Amino acid sequence: MGHYNLIKLNATRSTNDKVKMLIKSKKISPGDIVWAEYQYKGRGQYNNNWNSSRGKNLLVTLYKEFRELTPKQSSYINFVISLSVIDTIEYYISSDNYIKWPNDILSAQKKISGILIENNFKGDKFNNSIIGIGINVNQTRFKNIVNATSIKLITNKENRIEEVLDKLIKNIGYYIKILRVKDFDNIIGLYNSRLYGRDYCKFLINDKTFEGKVIDVNPSGSINLKINGLGINKYESNTVKILI
Ligand code: BTN
Repeated sequence: MGHYNLIKLNATRSTNDKVKMLIKSKKISPGDIVWAEYQYKGRGQYNNNWNSSRGKNLLVTLYKEFRELTPKQSSYINFVISLSVIDTIEYYISSDNYIKWPNDILSAQKKISGILIENNFKGDKFNNSIIGIGINVNQTRFKNIVNATSIKLITNKENRIEEVLDKLIKNIGYYIKILRVKDFDNIIGLYNSRLYGRDYCKFLINDKTFEGKVIDVNPSGSINLKINGLGINKYESNTVKILI
């Protein structure tokens, strides 16, 4: 990924929040990475918390600029980051890894990684992206969290967090190159090929459970689902939840 600064912290509120503060105080440049051993208030999607035992997992946020992308193309950032994370997981766990749309990574049908991307726009121009990634590496007990797993729980092996980070950074570099040359069809094809639920899955829509299957995602980031009784329709991520 060229030259970048790795800002390593023992503890912080949330690495995404830290990056935002550093942007405000002009103490961070595009490409830089904030990595923490512990977060007091790790954030997930939809205002959820992201809890992680001290020193056990990878907690990292990348600050990236994508001047060549339009706001509409920002869904591709999610696609390439999801692909980078699943490839990183796959280095340790050889099979049964899927992307649960929009951007959870599953291993053995449980959540092993979460991604929180916060995009900023300047008018109709795309400005920058705060890309937060949590990968469960060595944690084996998840109190009050259902359906969570880690590399250690699945493989029985401990791994160095730094090594996982190194692999992740390399993978992100690889996929962002594909994004910078705007090979959008390639990216969406790869993302679709890794989706969870292409044969069968359950969905939650307005608190009701449905059965069906995932067809594919659209360039905008929405998804096409075939739901028994409802046919094939397009859904946005705030209207449907894929169940595991
Ligand atoms: C989710 O699945 O809901 C997204 C979880 C994202 C967690 C990561 S950990 C590093 C970064 N800092 C945060 O506060 N959240 C992200």
